[in-house]
Amino acid sequence: MFAQWLKESKYTVIFSGAGMSTESGVPDFRSSKGLWQGRDPQSLASTEAMAYNKKEFVAFYRMRIQALQSTHPHRGYDVLSAWANQLQLKSIITQNTDGLHEQAGNVNVLTLHGTIRRLHCNACGTVYPTDDYFNDRLYCSCGGFIRPSVVLFGESLDSHVLAAAGREARKADLFIVLGSSLVVSPANSFPVLAKEQGAKLVIVNHDPTPLDSMADVVINKRKIGDVLHDVNEELALD
Ligand code: APR
Repeated sequence: MFAQWLKESKYTVIFSGAGMSTESGVPDFRSSKGLWQGRDPQSLASTEAMAYNKKEFVAFYRMRIQALQSTHPHRGYDVLSAWANQLQLKSIITQNTDGLHEQAGNVNVLTLHGTIRRLHCNACGTVYPTDDYFNDRLYCSCGGFIRPSVVLFGESLDSHVLAAAGREARKADLFIVLGSSLVVSPANSFPVLAKEQGAKLVIVNHDPTPLDSMADVVINKRKIGDVLHDVNEELALD
């Protein structure tokens, strides 16, 4: 598959999406069992929803935060840590907000879309623990609305994280996508940027993606955890 490229790489970058977490029990968004099946993301995960649909907005994120309490990183995350220690895996650019890369001890993780493991006041920025969402604490002492620290549809991404991810994509000689439909921008620009700079592009995703035609290797219909395990076996890393 791409074990040899990993061995030869001087600068490997991983780009992960929600498909990286499904084997840990965290649903993705757009596959057949995804969170957006039968739901409109704009009515739940957007600035409009936060302003005009607060009850459903809070219920949606309360459900997602609650689900995290019974999840833990699957073996694929441990493989990524091994590659960071024993190979040239330099960074992980993730769209995920579940914090599983960090929980697994993966290093140099750039989180493009923030985290649902923290809340903050939408007005003054004061940080609150997620427990407050379960104690019905929805307003800050300043009067502002307390919301998850994720990037909502309609909000821009952190410019520093974007710049850092752009630098990583440009430096990569091997760029591996794990579990993303690659339909959301600007996140989906990073695999293109890496490829344009001459990196080998590998896409591991159960379903086809719009960038498959530009990839050097595409692995569909297989579970990420199994692919990472098999490649690791091929590398005979301990
Ligand atoms: N192994 C391989 N591929 C998988 C697995 C798995 N175990 N589980 C899911 N997938 C694939 C699905 O086929 C799907 O194409 O992962 C992909 C996940 O795509 P999305 O659900 O669209 O998730 P993602 O690409 O991360 O979404 C990007 O959209 O809603 C926003 O902010 C949200 O960060 C998210 C962004």
